[in-house]
Amino acid sequence: MNQNESKFFSKSELSRYDATSLPFIYLLKSAYIQIRRKLWGKFFDKDARMVWTIDAVSDAVGPADNVRNYLERRTLRSVLSEVTKNGPIASACEVGCGYGRLIMVLKEYASKVVGFEREGHLLDVAKSLLPDIVFCQCDSLNMVDQRKLGPFDFAMTWTVLQHLTDEDCQAVITAIKHLVPNGYILISEKTQAVAVTQNVTEGRQFISRARSVETYKDWMKPYTLVKILNTSVENTYHNKTPGTCMLFKR
Ligand SMILES: C[S@@+](CC[C@H](N)C(=O)[O-])C[C@H]1O[C@@H](n2cnc3c(N)ncnc32)[C@H](O)[C@@H]1O
Repeated sequence: MNQNESKFFSKSELSRYDATSLPFIYLLKSAYIQIRRKLWGKFFDKDARMVWTIDAVSDAVGPADNVRNYLERRTLRSVLSEVTKNGPIASACEVGCGYGRLIMVLKEYASKVVGFEREGHLLDVAKSLLPDIVFCQCDSLNMVDQRKLGPFDFAMTWTVLQHLTDEDCQAVITAIKHLVPNGYILISEKTQAVAVTQNVTEGRQFISRARSVETYKDWMKPYTLVKILNTSVENTYHNKTPGTCMLFKR
């Protein structure tokens, strides 16, 4: 019931909507379900992996989210303008595309665009909003090259590798190289150790870590770093150095 509706009901009528007016057995059942869920999570689901939600994909909300999306898309456009300076690209993909927050920018430059993502529920949102983009669910991002959707002229990760263990990160980079045997790979990830987690090895739990540009340069060999720029987000964000865009070419 919303505030307007509540104006039109007397107190006794309103009490009918109060949870305490439910039969005691329902309240008991509800309390039992709540307790069981909490205990089940604590004792039986403790090895379950973190599931990425819409709120986790971007931690900005409302007006800040609006500005963040604008600034990040502007940065991505400046990279793609550089990529297409000497000729257009036909195909592009994003590995770990979430619900498609940025991927529509790729469509401005390439006719074939594919988004790879592990979380099926995020892809459901992306598919409904962006029908001209192909989305592909992958249980592990190190298998993106096995979906036979490549090769691509351009591939990118945007705040994805920073959430992976070193082992997983290198495996995903290898798969992306297979996706783009000749072309550009953009890695936009955290490079300064601000707001990082202690956890860097347990991939089922949340990881936020920084790797230096030198580390990515090394892991990206034989691709060479051709452009580097800082990502900018809304002014009010606590992390003033959220990430670096590293453009590699082969
Ligand atoms: C911060 S979000 C970024 C999403 C998108 N690139 C964007 O900028 O809106 C991180 C993404 O990486 C994916 N991801 C994080 N850890 C992962 C893992 N271990 N395996 C597969 N995907 C993972 C999440 O599902 C999520 O879509």
